[in-house]
Amino acid sequence: MCGCDDCLGPEQEITPEAAYALLHSLGLPAGWQLFDLGSGLGKLVVQVHLDPKLAAARAVGVELAATRHAAAVQALAGLTQLVSAGELAQPTGTIELIQGDMLKTVFDVAPGTYVVVYLGSLCFDEEFMTRLGKVVAAERCVQTVLTLQTFPDGLTGFSLVRTVKADMTWLKDEPV
Ligand SMILES: C[S@@+](CC[C@H](N)C(=O)[O-])C[C@H]1O[C@@H](n2cnc3c(N)ncnc32)[C@H](O)[C@@H]1O
Repeated sequence: MCGCDDCLGPEQEITPEAAYALLHSLGLPAGWQLFDLGSGLGKLVVQVHLDPKLAAARAVGVELAATRHAAAVQALAGLTQLVSAGELAQPTGTIELIQGDMLKTVFDVAPGTYVVVYLGSLCFDEEFMTRLGKVVAAERCVQTVLTLQTFPDGLTGFSLVRTVKADMTWLKDEPV
């Protein structure tokens, strides 16, 4: 875990509407991929996978907690059945739910792939954010980082483009 008590508490998620607005506003190129590090119940990953308007080629969720990962896998199985039954549109991209430590994420993407990293990081402590910043900054494929919390030592090679307010499930209008 990231080292905070909140990780064991209630889920803290960006709302689907806020996630769509945020991602849509980025004007992402064709073939873009999402890596949600600390994907919890997988809601953001699944949303991105299923929304044809977002047109992600791949949505990857990395979650350490076995119970949350299992719940995400189960939810995805249910949605896959709805797709098979024709009740949901067939996604064009792929989805992967991985149980593991985000600090060991393997960004196995082809050269030139545009990667967006999302960090629902509000509960991550300073030491964890520092380590995570080093991991993310070391990945040349990562083009955009969306984080609820800034990095104590900054993010080498990146500059802050903007701060936006987004609705979260526990509060309205949190900075992202
Ligand atoms: C606030 S939740 C994020 C939920 C999700 N990103 C969303 O927006 O729907 C943060 C998640 O990070 C997970 N987490 C904490 N430390 C982690 C680590 N080292 N590797 C992977 N996941 C971790 C927690 O278990 C928790 O589910």
